[in-house]
Amino acid sequence: MSLPSRVKVVEVGPRDGLQNEAKPVPLETKVALIDRLSETGLTAIEAGAFVSPKWVPQMADSAEVFRRIKQKPQVSYPVLVPNVKGLELALAAGVQEIAVFGAASESFSQRNINCSIEESLERFGPVCDAAQSAGLKVRGYVSCVLGCPYEGEIAPDAVARVAKALIGMGCYEVSLGDTIGIGTPIKAQRMIEVVAQDVDISHLAAHFHDTYGQALANLLAVLQMGVAVMDASVSGLGGCPYAPGASGNVATEDVVYMLHGLGIETGIDLNQLVETGAFISQALDRPPGSKAAMALRLKAAKSQQ
Ligand code: HMG
Ligand code: MG
Repeated sequence: MSLPSRVKVVEVGPRDGLQNEAKPVPLETKVALIDRLSETGLTAIEAGAFVSPKWVPQMADSAEVFRRIKQKPQVSYPVLVPNVKGLELALAAGVQEIAVFGAASESFSQRNINCSIEESLERFGPVCDAAQSAGLKVRGYVSCVLGCPYEGEIAPDAVARVAKALIGMGCYEVSLGDTIGIGTPIKAQRMIEVVAQDVDISHLAAHFHDTYGQALANLLAVLQMGVAVMDASVSGLGGCPYAPGASGNVATEDVVYMLHGLGIETGIDLNQLVETGAFISQALDRPPGSKAAMALRLKAAKSQQ
């Protein structure tokens, strides 16, 4: 089994996690979460979304969050941007990296960003051009890569088509989202196999939600194929407002525990990450969503007795 020696973990909790919270999360909590994550050794933390506040009210204060966080030079803080208006707001806030987000499913594209896949690609072109002219890095997302809440099965070819188009617009990386966490390992490998015919595997990231408890297994499956960038959400926060029933991303603590156990470097201090997960779970008044974090905290508490 040949595995990469290092994996980049992209923390998406402050965006993908918090966007789905039913109750408003205070600005101070969002800022404190990102600042704590910045101290863990993570090198990419998705900090918010410049989307319509009518569609996703929880992200309405992203500009203010972005202005208040203490940015570390070695960390990038991408934000989601769906259109030129979002880009203008992101630029005004001083953002240096954006992510455009499309889908491999027509129905999901309509419900999530109110346009067809084709229209979304037409919309992203000028956004990518303007962002790159302003010196910004652009990441791309494809949602519903292993299934859609409205259409069911999604052909890997449909994923490849959108991923290729995003790379063609200058995205440095495309993150492949199992938005509803429905995939299983062999299916995930088949999808990567097809997409990798059009996009070099070094430009692919895995963004797996854990609705069916398959995310870690799916990550290991694609890691074995050479995917070396993984999105995850501290304490498994989140879901997607336009994917009913979807639970959070795979918990970052669980991903880091697995990677370190495989002898793979991440540069992340797992203990600090676990404490950050405890902080946000407490702030949101819910049990921690990471098994590794729960076990490590229990072990630490017992050793102090
Ligand atoms: P629309 O209604 O078609 O847009 O929405 P519009 O251009 O007709 O504008 C309507 C109103 O929104 C106008 O305001 C605009 O100014 C305003 P009004 O005149 O009515 O007062 N508006 C904006 N305001 C702030 N920022 C903007 C913006 N754009 C327009 N950027 C739109 C189209 C794309 C804007 C909308 O559908 C939207 O914001 N969608 C975002 C949905 C979203 O954030 N979903 C969650 C993220 S995706 C995800 O979670 C999946 C992922 O994690 C990967 C995975 O798991 O698969 C990434
Ligand atoms: Mg997601």
